[in-house]
Amino acid sequence: MTIEGRHRPVLLEEALAILQPRSGGRYLDATVGLGGHAEAILVESAPAGRLCGIDRDAETLDMAKDRLKRFGSRVELRQGDFVRLGAIATENGWGPFDGILFDLGVSSFQLDNASRGFSFMRDGPLDMRMDRQGDEKSATELLAGISERELARILRDYGEERWARRIAARIVQERRTQPFTSTAQLARLVAAAVPRRAWPRRIHVATRTFQALRIAVNDELGRLSHGLQDAVESLVVGGRICIISFHSLEDRIVKETLRGWARSEPPRVHLLTKRPVAPTEREIETNPRARSAKLRAAERC
Ligand SMILES: C[S@@+](CC[C@H](N)C(=O)[O-])C[C@H]1O[C@@H](n2cnc3c(N)ncnc32)[C@H](O)[C@@H]1O
Repeated sequence: MTIEGRHRPVLLEEALAILQPRSGGRYLDATVGLGGHAEAILVESAPAGRLCGIDRDAETLDMAKDRLKRFGSRVELRQGDFVRLGAIATENGWGPFDGILFDLGVSSFQLDNASRGFSFMRDGPLDMRMDRQGDEKSATELLAGISERELARILRDYGEERWARRIAARIVQERRTQPFTSTAQLARLVAAAVPRRAWPRRIHVATRTFQALRIAVNDELGRLSHGLQDAVESLVVGGRICIISFHSLEDRIVKETLRGWARSEPPRVHLLTKRPVAPTEREIETNPRARSAKLRAAERC
């Protein structure tokens, strides 16, 4: 199946209703991923809307380039980190923008690709880096050096894992005899550490551990705070920022950042969403990955 066929962007209609793409508008997709939202923005802003897109992940970006090539010079994509959003925009002569979108987390391509090590569903190297050319440690390296206490904190805070201390203790014990190099090895350990009666019903028992490690490996929360600051500076007056998050800690950062801007003197934005917008039951049925999504948005003033 083509990417377009199997990939459904989350909260697409809701994001378009906020961004209101129009011909002649300039848009930035800060997490272009497989190009789903980007494609819709380009379609809606025909014939003269322009879209700039960045993604940390070079492999994902290649797929987006392929998907969006029919839009020709209306689209420009660069590999890069949204933590450097302002610098990337300046280096490339982009912006200011009428709309900026963040759709956080990982793409289905990253999750489904065993060689990237994000998923317990298929065995692969325990990597989890979004940017494999960058200087971050892989999950294998992180697990080799981290203290038991810090590991338990990461599993509890980023994974909301109630068995965090037990899993961390088991990992530290097992790494004395063998390093953690594969996703299946880690998934097996988590399954053994959590008592069977306490396994979650709807998700795999290792889901929370994998999510927590991914967030830590890529410093996703630290990057988000910085990226949002750059983004608001890059909007025209009346320009809109729209953020889709999948984790309660991400949503808290987004909520507090937007509220801080709205309350500053003079206000930097008007809030467009007092409460987060969630996917409909229907969207969740057709795309279970949308389950935890929340959208918040604001307009530059
Ligand atoms: C959920 S996907 C985006 C999907 C996209 N909206 C679509 O419709 O195809 C999130 C993307 O954000 C990228 N990403 C995560 N953190 C990033 C960062 N700090 N800078 C740039 N891209 C990032 C990931 O590599 C991933 O491709």
